[in-house]
Amino acid sequence: MGKRGLPFVVRPMEERDIPAVMAIERVSFPAPWPESAYHYELRYGTGSRFFVLQPAGEDRANERGRRLRSVMRRRGISPVLGYAGLRFRSDRAHLSTLAIHPDWRGRGLGSFLLLTVLEEAVQEGAQQITLEVRPSNRVAQRLYAKIGFTHTGVRPGYYRDGEDAWLMALTLDEETVSRLRTLRRAVEARVRTIGRLSHQGASDGKW
Ligand SMILES: CC(C)(COP(=O)(O)OP(=O)(O)OC[C@H]1O[C@@H](n2cnc3c(N)ncnc32)[C@H](O)[C@@H]1OP(=O)(O)O)[C@@H](O)C(=O)NCCC(=O)NCCS
Repeated sequence: MGKRGLPFVVRPMEERDIPAVMAIERVSFPAPWPESAYHYELRYGTGSRFFVLQPAGEDRANERGRRLRSVMRRRGISPVLGYAGLRFRSDRAHLSTLAIHPDWRGRGLGSFLLLTVLEEAVQEGAQQITLEVRPSNRVAQRLYAKIGFTHTGVRPGYYRDGEDAWLMALTLDEETVSRLRTLRRAVEARVRTIGRLSHQGASDGKW
C-alpha cells in the first residue's frame, strides 16, 4: 500500500497500534469505540480490515517520510496519524470508521486515506461501498461528497446519543474506479508537499 516517494503510507493496523488509535478515537468521536472492540476486530474480525496512516520510513527513496518518522520517534510521538476500517459482506464493503488526528487534518490526509482504502475495497472485489455519517458532521459529509458518495437514507436514532445516521453509498463501477484513481493522483500530489513537522501536537508533545 506504500508508494515510492510518498511521505505517507497506509498499512494494516496491528494490535501494537491500538493505544495510538485510541488516542485519536477519543478526540474524534462523541461515542468512541472501546479499546476492546479494536482488539476483538483485529483478532477475530474475519470480515473486517483495519488500516493505519503513518509517515513512510522503510522506503529508502523516501527521505521526507523518514525524517518525519525520526523526529516523531525522538519526541515520543506515535507515528499513527489516522486510521480506517472496512467490513466486507459478499460484494459490498462498509466503511466502519475513518479518522485523522486533529493536528493533521485539513491537509488532504483524510482524502488520501479514504481513497487508499477504497482501492483496497476495489481490489477485494467490492461493487459498492456504504457508510453512516452524522447529519451534524459537515466536514466528513463534504469529504464523502467530494469522493462521490450519495445520500441513500436515514437510520433514525442510530447513534448512542440518539442522533440519526445518514446512509451514504458509492457504486464502484469501472468509470467510478477510474475517476477515483485520477482523484487519488491529485491527492497524492497534495500530500507529497506535507513534510515539515510543524503541527502543534509535535511541539507540545501532546500525544
Ligand atoms: C473527516 C476527517 C477524516 C477528514 O480528514 P482531513 O484530513 O481533514 O481530510 P482532508 O484534508 O482530506 O479534507 C477532505 C475534505 O473535507 C472537507 N474539509 C476538511 N476540513 C474542513 C473544514 N475545516 N471545514 C469544512 N470542510 C472541511 C473539505 O471538503 C475537504 O476537501 P478539500 O480539501 O478538497 O476542500 C477528519 O475531519 C476527522 O478525523 N474527523 C473526526 C472523525 C470523523 O468525523 N470521521 C468520519 C466519521 S463518518
